[in-house]
Amino acid sequence: MKAKTAIYYDRIYAAVGKDYAAEAAQLKAIIAHRKRSAGNSLLDVACGTATHAVHLSDEFEITGFDIEKAMVELARECCPSGTFLVDDMRDFDLKRTFDVVICLFSSIGFMKTRADLDAAVGNMARHVKPGGVLLIEPWITSDNFTGGHSQVVAVDEPELKLARVTRSDREGDLSVLDMQYLIATPEGLEHIAERYEMGLFTEEEYLSAYKRAGLEVELDPKGLMDRGLLIGTR
Ligand SMILES: C[S@@+](CC[C@H](N)C(=O)[O-])C[C@H]1O[C@@H](n2cnc3c(N)ncnc32)[C@H](O)[C@@H]1O
Repeated sequence: MKAKTAIYYDRIYAAVGKDYAAEAAQLKAIIAHRKRSAGNSLLDVACGTATHAVHLSDEFEITGFDIEKAMVELARECCPSGTFLVDDMRDFDLKRTFDVVICLFSSIGFMKTRADLDAAVGNMARHVKPGGVLLIEPWITSDNFTGGHSQVVAVDEPELKLARVTRSDREGDLSVLDMQYLIATPEGLEHIAERYEMGLFTEEEYLSAYKRAGLEVELDPKGLMDRGLLIGTR
């Protein structure tokens, strides 16, 4: 998410019915089943506004980071008990390890090359304690992404009328999402255009990134929202 539209992020995903509380409950069950380490520290990589983290904060001591400062500021408001930083999954080094590391809602798709994918998964894996768990929700795989799709989301609140139209296309091994926002508030009407490029990787490329990082891994094909969930253990 970019700085200008970060403040609308939660309302857009509430409007499409994304159920962070239910996803967090599912994550807790997976972690309880897999985790062998004794502690309860959790790192949320590309935490966004911390909406998963806040639902996990009753059981875990939360640290999170995101590359976008505006998202980190919203995360601090949403989950005051957590510690949130600006950092980049490609090269972060927090100089400590965690019982659980999560990277959700296809944030890993912001890695555009295999080298970046391996670096990000390697960094996450290095931050996992022995007996800990690494959960990554992949982006749509290379085999399954066709492109040429359009989507509209509308937020209709008394003081916010927002329409976001997305057109997605494929350019080689990249998925390109062009998003155009029309936003009306009491202050006026604004048009914002954003373009996101996300890497397309095969299931095998995701799995081998975990294996190179020295983790055992399996893919739950359904996961939290039918995009699958990579479940790794150290
Ligand atoms: C789809 S949002 C997901 C946010 C949150 N995890 C959630 O489930 O709502 C993707 C997030 O990845 C962040 N992001 C993109 N590239 C990143 C990078 N290299 N390192 C850390 N965060 C990144 C974006 O700023 C954005 O907040």
